[in-house]
Amino acid sequence: MSDIYPVPPDFAARAHVDAAAYDRLYRQSLDDNDGFWREQAAALDWIRPFTQVSDTKFDPADLRIRWFADGTLNASVNCVDRHLPAKADKPAILWQGDGEGESESRSVTWGELADKVNRLANVLKGLGVAKGDVVTIYLPVIPEVMVAMMACVRLGAVHSVVFSGFSAEALANRIEDAGAKVLITADEGHRGGRVVPLKHNADAAVAAQPSIRHVVVVRRSGASVPFTPGRDLWYDEAVAAAEPWCPPVEVGAEDPLFILYTSGSTGKPKGLVHTTGGYLVHAGTSWRVIFDWHEGEVFWCTADVGWVTAHTYKIYGPLLNGATSVMFEGVPTWPDSSRWWSIIERYRVNIFYTAPTALRSLMREGEAPVQRHDLSSLRVLGSVGEPINPEAWRWYHSVIGGGRCPIVDTYWQTETGAVLLVPIPGAVANKPGMAAKPYFGIRPVVVDAAGTRLDGVAEGNMCFEGSWPGQARTILHDHERFVLTYFAPYPGLFFTGDGGRRDEDGYFRITGRVDDVINVSGHRLGTVELESAISSHPAVAESAVVGFPHDLKGQGVFAYVTLKENIDESEALRREIVDWVRARIGAIASLDVVQWAPSLPKNRAGKILRRILAKVAANDFENFGDTSTVADPAIVGDIVLRRKQTLERESS
Ligand code: WTA
Repeated sequence: MSDIYPVPPDFAARAHVDAAAYDRLYRQSLDDNDGFWREQAAALDWIRPFTQVSDTKFDPADLRIRWFADGTLNASVNCVDRHLPAKADKPAILWQGDGEGESESRSVTWGELADKVNRLANVLKGLGVAKGDVVTIYLPVIPEVMVAMMACVRLGAVHSVVFSGFSAEALANRIEDAGAKVLITADEGHRGGRVVPLKHNADAAVAAQPSIRHVVVVRRSGASVPFTPGRDLWYDEAVAAAEPWCPPVEVGAEDPLFILYTSGSTGKPKGLVHTTGGYLVHAGTSWRVIFDWHEGEVFWCTADVGWVTAHTYKIYGPLLNGATSVMFEGVPTWPDSSRWWSIIERYRVNIFYTAPTALRSLMREGEAPVQRHDLSSLRVLGSVGEPINPEAWRWYHSVIGGGRCPIVDTYWQTETGAVLLVPIPGAVANKPGMAAKPYFGIRPVVVDAAGTRLDGVAEGNMCFEGSWPGQARTILHDHERFVLTYFAPYPGLFFTGDGGRRDEDGYFRITGRVDDVINVSGHRLGTVELESAISSHPAVAESAVVGFPHDLKGQGVFAYVTLKENIDESEALRREIVDWVRARIGAIASLDVVQWAPSLPKNRAGKILRRILAKVAANDFENFGDTSTVADPAIVGDIVLRRKQTLERESS
């Protein structure tokens, strides 16, 4: 089977960017980078126009990332007000709740959205929220999450959205780090027929973090939940009583827009800070091009609002462009595995953007759940969050896309703000599993471990040269870590933490993380973060976590655990540790394998040798490479033996 899927000619004919335009614009965007982004920035409404486009330098001793710095604007005006009155009665959001009853779906027009945003902004203002303050948002995928984000930025306040699947403890840590004064949550969320006790978690988090003075509670389920008068207020009552107009606050392009936490190579999640002007320019203009959205088309990104994918391409991208988007609260497999396909049919979705993990699990269900639905509205398919394996890619292309929809495999990160590599659908032929080509203004560089640039066909560490407007500016309270993590490894370059390969056609394939981050089902988990959670269990002396190849999740979590003296290994304890970690971090932090390890292999300096542990976790018992650094080789032998015994037990 050919490994190249050319751009369908009829698609290219009406696309925003075809092959010739891509080549020309890409070259121009490198030759005159400022000129390119200046033109892109004209897509926004500025209050005071900027005079300088960029002021950037990837020098670890003097890092500078500033875009459109003396311009001023307001994000909510660009996302909402601008589409009025023209689209007042057109839907901004087509919401589908977890359930299937009548009350489980509603549409929100641009007029209603603007009204709610203004009113909630006034409520927040009344609670003392002002420019630069952080508001933490802990909500399910319901229209109010969009309202909440927009209400914050109307005031020049900074939103910090925390995934509603995170535990109370994880929420509390993020509230503390950001110093948030107000929390917006809901009574409950619904996911796959189950209730998520959001207010309960929020109360526990706020009890630990008194910086929160007020909690705004959206009534999602109507369940009776504890309510602290004076501190808590109901969203619907407060919004109804608020003034319907809130003047937008003028902010500088380099003022922060939001904070988003993600896992890195230390125990503490890092709060990446995105600023207003550059992020909005990159998000809004790239969204339109990479999904080839045309006026009137319906877009659906399945990501949860707690991740950057949703920030950029579910919230900001569609809003900036005045697009109608579907929002779905639930999961793809409930009540059955045709749920997504029924939603595509019902809302006539044209552009669908999801993650490979979900596709792999749905692929297992066969074609029958898909065939029950009419997916002929689909025109473009997207993938994000992890490498998509060619098998899943082909299934997506043929079974979901009917062989006619290009697949945009978008490579980017929380840190990069918006897309870096992507096969723009009318321009770049698809190769399964390849994020393909750089977006405009983006210069990919592959380096070896020593930092030597590798030209032509090469595999190494994925870096980018030169700034782009959407990139994060810093880690909240830890600029040094920001510089050290991304700019110090290869001076002059931004280092992604990913491995990448360039083929003979200049196409890129992302090969996965090369640092201490595990990508589980498209969610980033830091090994150190997991180890800290495991090691905080009273029975645990020490632990080491590595990723291993997992059929469905891409990578799974493999934990080696050393128990304290006199504590017995048992299945009950194993389960207790698994639950313990889920409670500390959230259900996404699920340990797939726990192997007891009386000792962990270390070098003479006491550093755990993860390379060897990762090999064993992948059932590779041969190529340990140089083991001369192992302080006690018998420990490696024991770990291998235990793994082999487990495999034997499982296969018998
Ligand atoms: C991985 C999500 C391969 C990568 C937008 C990156 C991908 C991490 C792709 C960022 C892709 C994202 N192909 N790998 N198309 N997209 N990744 O911050 O390892 O949640 O570093 O941002 O996901 O995850 P994050």
